[in-house]
This record gives sequence, structure tokens and C-alpha cells, in this order.
Amino acid sequence: MKKVLITGVAGFIGSNLLDYLLEQTDWEIHGIDNFSTGRKSNVKHNLDHARFRLIEGSVFELTSLKDYESIFHLSALPRIQPSFELVSDHIKENLLASIHLVELMMAENHYPRIINSSSSAIYGTPELIPTPESEKVDCLSPYAFQKFECEKYFDLVSTRVPLDYVHLRYFNPFGPRSFNPENKFNAYSSVVGIFLNRKARNEPLLITGDGLQKRDFIHVYDLAKANLLAAQHPEKLNTAFNIGASGTVSVIDLARMISENYQFIPKREGEAEITYADVSKAKEILGWQPEHNLDTYINSVLG
Ligand SMILES: NC(=O)c1ccc[n+]([C@@H]2O[C@H](COP(=O)([O-])OP(=O)(O)OC[C@H]3O[C@@H](n4cnc5c(N)ncnc54)[C@H](O)[C@@H]3O)[C@@H](O)[C@H]2O)c1
Repeated sequence: MKKVLITGVAGFIGSNLLDYLLEQTDWEIHGIDNFSTGRKSNVKHNLDHARFRLIEGSVFELTSLKDYESIFHLSALPRIQPSFELVSDHIKENLLASIHLVELMMAENHYPRIINSSSSAIYGTPELIPTPESEKVDCLSPYAFQKFECEKYFDLVSTRVPLDYVHLRYFNPFGPRSFNPENKFNAYSSVVGIFLNRKARNEPLLITGDGLQKRDFIHVYDLAKANLLAAQHPEKLNTAFNIGASGTVSVIDLARMISENYQFIPKREGEAEITYADVSKAKEILGWQPEHNLDTYINSVLG
């Protein structure tokens, strides 16, 4: 039976990926998490699953990857604003953790495919709309820069050793468990989750700036499917794919879909004016396409 590892399994995307892989495959899945921004309750419904094992600890404590055929690498400190303040922590978690995985592979001369969670943040505010993978890189935050460095590190190392990887540049994910009230960085979580949480508590939605910034919102189940297809692809790909819904919605329109009770707060620097993915490469090469829709999700949560 194929054995795989998910790093950051107790996070928003990792825990949804775990559900998806348990449902769609017969693989044995190990997941590691140190619960820095994720929480054990996100995977509690799978703790007794015969094909899942939770490793409680840090990626840096891993000493071998030789049992695994694929690594889904999601662990990170994935927020833009905190990356300006806690710089070395973010370099450690967003860059050095990935390097640690590659060093283990080199030490063991074993190269499982690594599906690397990257981000549309590397494009900054793009010029090409919709944005293809060939768009120039323009990192507006340390977080974006670390995600890009990580991609570049894999690209560079693959000229020396037989690294096998796929970078998935997620746009703006939404879905179950996106908002973790225990996360010290929760104010910077995905806006869909924050707005739904504030609506549930009858609090006004807080819109940064004029709310005209636009986002390409992609359901976490669609991200999970892209991860599975990237792992299953028969050829070594060693390239990057945009994973978004290929549409764009302004934050003020999003707020109005959820509540008429909203207020404006100051704009935050380091964040893009628009994200809008061109996903033709993922459609053509991975055979992936988004299936879930933002309106349907919001209506299902609001009831
Ligand atoms: N959510 C987004 O808006 C978004 C957008 C683009 C890309 N991404 C990327 O997707 C990935 C997952 O993001 P998410 O939204 O699920 O974040 P998250 O914070 O919910 O999950 C990250 C998980 O990694 C764990 N973790 C952090 N450092 C660790 C370490 N050293 N060892 C073990 N576990 C560790 C955390 O505890 C957490 O459970 C990240 O790589 C992120 O950069 C996220």
C-alpha cells in the first residue's frame, strides 16, 4: 500500500486534504503537526482511522522520509502581516522546514514526489489578468518572498539531484475549518472564514481599505483534488501550477453576500489589489478543474 506524509495535517488545508485522501485513495497516510497554528481537533474525527497516523511534532524532528512515496508539504506560518513582524520564525517555518525535507531526501538518496503548497502571493498585484504562471514575481511581503524562495530552492536543487516536485500556487482558499479562533494569527486568516465567523457572532464585518481589492476564491476541496492529481501524475513535472477558481470577487461584494452589517478599517500594506488565476496549465497537464462554488458554500453555512 502506498504510504504518504502530510506536513501541517492539523491546519485548515492539511486537515481537509487528509479527509479527501482517506476518501479517495487506499493509501496509508501519516500526518505531522506541531499545532502552532493548527489544532488537533481538526483531525480528531480521523484519529481512529486504520489508515491514518498522527505524528505530534515538528517537521524539523523528522529523521527519515524513506517510507514515503509522496510528501504533501503544507506546514508553514502562512500569514502575510505577521511575516513582517516575526521574521526569523517565518523564515524557519516557510523556508528552512522545506530545506530540511530536501536534506533528508539527499541524505537517504530517496526522492518521493513533494507536492509543495505555494501561493499566489508571489505575484503581488499582477499585470496580467487572469494571471498565468509566467507572470513576473513581485513579492510584497516576507511571506510571499519565502514562498518564492522555497520554489526557487527546489528548482535549483533539482539541477543536482533527482528531486521530484510540483509547486501548487493556491489562490484564496475557503471552506470548512478555515477560521481557527485559537490561532494567534486568526485576524489574518482567509477573509471568507473571518466574515462568516463575525456574522455568526452578530459582529460587523471589518473590510480593509475601500473593499475594492479582489480575490480569486477557491474551495479547499478543489485544492485537495489538485494535490491528489499532482501526486498521481505519471511523469515527473518539476513545475508550478496556479490553483484558483479563475474568477474574482471584490471584498465588499463578498461582505454583502454575507451581511449588510459591515465597517471599514485601514488598508493593510503588503497585500495584492487583485488575484485572478489563469488555470489553463493545471487543466491541460493535471486534468484538474475547480468544481465548487463560493455562493453555494456561503449559502450552506448561512443556512
Ligand atoms: N490559507 C491560505 O490563504 C493559503 C493561500 C496560499 C497558500 N497557502 C499555503 O497552504 C499551506 C497550508 O496553509 P493553511 O491555510 O492550511 O495554514 P494553517 O496555518 O491552517 O496550517 C499550517 C499547519 O502547519 C503546522 N505547522 C507549522 N509549522 C510546523 C512545523 N514546523 N512542523 C509541523 N507542523 C507545523 C501548523 O500547526 C498548522 O497546522 C501553507 O503552506 C500556506 O503557505 C495557504
